Amino acid sequence: YGTQATNQAGHLSIGGVDTLALAHEYGTPLIVYDVALIKQRIAEFKQVFEEAGVAYKVTYASKAFTAIAMYQLLAEQGVGCDVVSGGEIYTAQQAGFPLANASFHGNNKTAAELEYALTAGVGTIVLDNFHEIDLLNDILTRHEQSIDVLLRIAPGISAHTHEYIMTGQEDSKFGFDLKSGQATQAFEKVQALPRLNLRGVHCHIGSQIFETNGFEMAATAMIDLLVQWAQTGFTAEVLNLGGGFGVRYTAADQPLAPQEYVRDIVKVVKQQAAAAKLPLPEIWIEPGRSMVAEAGTSLYTIGSRKDLPGIRHYVAVDGGMGDNIRPALYEAKYSAVLANAPEAEPVETVSIAGKYCESGDMLLWDLPLPQSQPGDVLAMFVTGAYGYSMASNYNRNPRPAVVFVENGAARLIIKRETYADMAQLDVNESPSHL
Ligand code: LLP
Repeated sequence: YGTQATNQAGHLSIGGVDTLALAHEYGTPLIVYDVALIKQRIAEFKQVFEEAGVAYKVTYASKAFTAIAMYQLLAEQGVGCDVVSGGEIYTAQQAGFPLANASFHGNNKTAAELEYALTAGVGTIVLDNFHEIDLLNDILTRHEQSIDVLLRIAPGISAHTHEYIMTGQEDSKFGFDLKSGQATQAFEKVQALPRLNLRGVHCHIGSQIFETNGFEMAATAMIDLLVQWAQTGFTAEVLNLGGGFGVRYTAADQPLAPQEYVRDIVKVVKQQAAAAKLPLPEIWIEPGRSMVAEAGTSLYTIGSRKDLPGIRHYVAVDGGMGDNIRPALYEAKYSAVLANAPEAEPVETVSIAGKYCESGDMLLWDLPLPQSQPGDVLAMFVTGAYGYSMASNYNRNPRPAVVFVENGAARLIIKRETYADMAQLDVNESPSHL
């Protein structure tokens, strides 16, 4: 993936930096991001739109991985972002990210978060439900402000993916249901509220999707809806089709190249809009995983081992479900190599255990690996999305450090958490009567 290579010392290098040197300098577990690969993905997405000659916006779904340095990279590359919490807005603000280029998502944004978004200058609110329409309108009335909004539509399309990361199907907590007419009710309601400047619609059908037909169905459903609304004189300026483009975790995964999904979306939207004689709206996408997953590699130090003859060899590392819960939560599959011998022939099949007190804390099952020793570094690939962002302090293990590497240089972007960091919110006071 990206700039990964075997260097002269025979070690895995990323961005021209030796991964053993990274492990030595910053400790493990460590998450290493190949910045050049993130930039490449962004450029590829943009190129599709430029070639098609359509108005567009590439926004990154912050939830996949975020940090001040990440928002700065996005700003520098001229991409927008979606935010889903006050915490993401705060981090973007700290980074100096131009929040006019951010869309705020969520099925239960609190009043405090909506107020914060307004005062921070978030450009677009993606309205999810009827309660939120009233809540936002009240806040805007109080502030004597108005804001751009999109309506999040649940188009009733089930994309083939893990049940927990399916989002666009009819029985979903997200968005205004299309089939029962809620989407059009929401449209009418918002049109009657002058402080809500309705710019268009949004849908997101799921994550880690390998086929284009779900996107085509979603695009078609959205255009059909806009055609209905056009009869009232409304012209949609924005059609946001979300993210969800799949990535290759292991050789068994056969996704398209990320930009191919976008190429297909653009083609279908253009065709459908032309057929319906609808002015072509700006097309927005919000990829998360496909922007950062393959750019991320987790480095762990190998420790203990347990051999069960004829059954399994457990090889344990110094991280696990606290820095990557995806295997435990979704049975997600990964691949890995020894960083000191990435191309050595495997001599055994091992299963990589985490260090957390839970039997389900296994990072990888049945991995062919050369002979490993305690102290060796294991490099696990494609961990850049939903790893650090879903990290926890389970067992009071500190969260890992994160580095950006590019052109032979490394930059620490998130420090390793300390024991003191974890204990600092603990309070030791006597009770008070309320
Ligand atoms: N837009 C919206 C409204 C979303 O809900 C999501 C992801 C995205 C964009 C970005 O989707 P992506 O391009 O990353 O597939 N924790 C799960 C994934 C949850 C995705 C939630 N929504 C995992 O680790 O697989």
